[in-house]
Amino acid sequence: MAIREIVLMGDPVLRREADEVTVFDDELRAVVRDMFETMYHADGIGLAAPQIGLSKRIIVVDPRRPEEEGGGESERVAVINPVVTEASRETYKQSEGCLSIPGLEEIVERPVAVRVEGKDPDGNVVVIEAEDLFGRALQHEIDHVDGILFLDRVSALKRRMLLKKWRKLEAERAAEAQEV
Ligand code: NI
Repeated sequence: MAIREIVLMGDPVLRREADEVTVFDDELRAVVRDMFETMYHADGIGLAAPQIGLSKRIIVVDPRRPEEEGGGESERVAVINPVVTEASRETYKQSEGCLSIPGLEEIVERPVAVRVEGKDPDGNVVVIEAEDLFGRALQHEIDHVDGILFLDRVSALKRRMLLKKWRKLEAERAAEAQEV
């Protein structure tokens, strides 16, 4: 197992439509293990393969952070070639962040509940009915394999403000890197 480097917004891999997975082998399962490890290490609740620089349709989600009291892994899932096949008409707004866009957060409106279909890492069909945070995390990660970021789902005005803040954060990171 290995913790992978998480790529940041600006890397073109995050904007590509990722490739379907066609081979369900040990290599795929090793990638999934690394993705879980990387996600937990970064204290995230979801991760998509493009975020580790791999343009494949693979996502992992665990809406319950491991350090939380009683944090079981009952909702921990890895979905290969995930597709939202149904979404509730009812939506709700909640703040979202992204491990590839550290420092930015914004309210995003999404369906409350979704049905997601795909495969598990062994190639078996999986169907997941998810709502609230679990459903939101699945939608956010499935967006990633389509090259979509949460910034694309906020108003143009808010996006401009967020991008301005992002440029400032990037400049700060570049300055820090030079000092080292
Ligand atoms: Ni994200």
